[in-house]
Amino acid sequence: MGKRGLLYEGKAKKVYETDDPDLLIVSYKDDATAFDGQKKGTIVGKGAINNRMTNHIFKLLEKRGVPTHLVEELSDRETLVKKVEIVPLEVIIRNVCAGSFAKKLGMEEGIRLACPTLEFSYKNDDLHDPFINDYYALALNLATREEIDAITKYAFLVNEVMMEYFAGLGIDLIDFKIEFGRYHGQVILADEVSPDTCRLWDSETHEKLDKDRFRRDLGNVEDAYEEVFRRLGISG
Ligand code: TMP
Repeated sequence: MGKRGLLYEGKAKKVYETDDPDLLIVSYKDDATAFDGQKKGTIVGKGAINNRMTNHIFKLLEKRGVPTHLVEELSDRETLVKKVEIVPLEVIIRNVCAGSFAKKLGMEEGIRLACPTLEFSYKNDDLHDPFINDYYALALNLATREEIDAITKYAFLVNEVMMEYFAGLGIDLIDFKIEFGRYHGQVILADEVSPDTCRLWDSETHEKLDKDRFRRDLGNVEDAYEEVFRRLGISG
């Protein structure tokens, strides 16, 4: 698939047009940001790990009935994907109290929730991705009721599949953020699933194996990404 001009450069990925108007190439970078880009750094090897991990998980999800934008992995860092119109919602599922949830509710990190929760953020860096509910999303024309229902159904299914899968690797899936896109009238999973977008704790030691090591200056950032990658069994 012929690669054409750069369409968009985000904080963690570049997106290129291709000869096919329905397809794009995403190229994962080693750049890392936190707090809406205020904190900047590099996590060496992250681009390749996030690319290959996302594709591995998306294939698993496809098998379990979640449609995704994945077409074909092209190289360590590059993947051919369907060109979607991103729904401007960050969809966050939580199984265990951590991060902004812990802060907002004055709870200790690590407490398992009675059931998984779902929340939406309006994807807008200038506004710091504010927390909204489905009525806001409808009122602001961010998505239709049908789309929100499909997104909700898929998000909980993604959680079920990933929780079970990571548990088998000795990893607790604490929470994660996913994004969806519109493709020929259908809502499909887009963006990425990686240690950038999930909280992943070792089941035994509760060691953090995700981007919180970078956000919170905990050290051993690269080691954590490599450990998750190694456990996926696709690093060979
Ligand atoms: P939070 O606890 O900071 O709200 O984060 C919830 C989950 O979303 C966590 O797994 C990290 C992920 N996340 C992103 O992928 N992008 C972001 O910009 C933020 C703030 C969180």
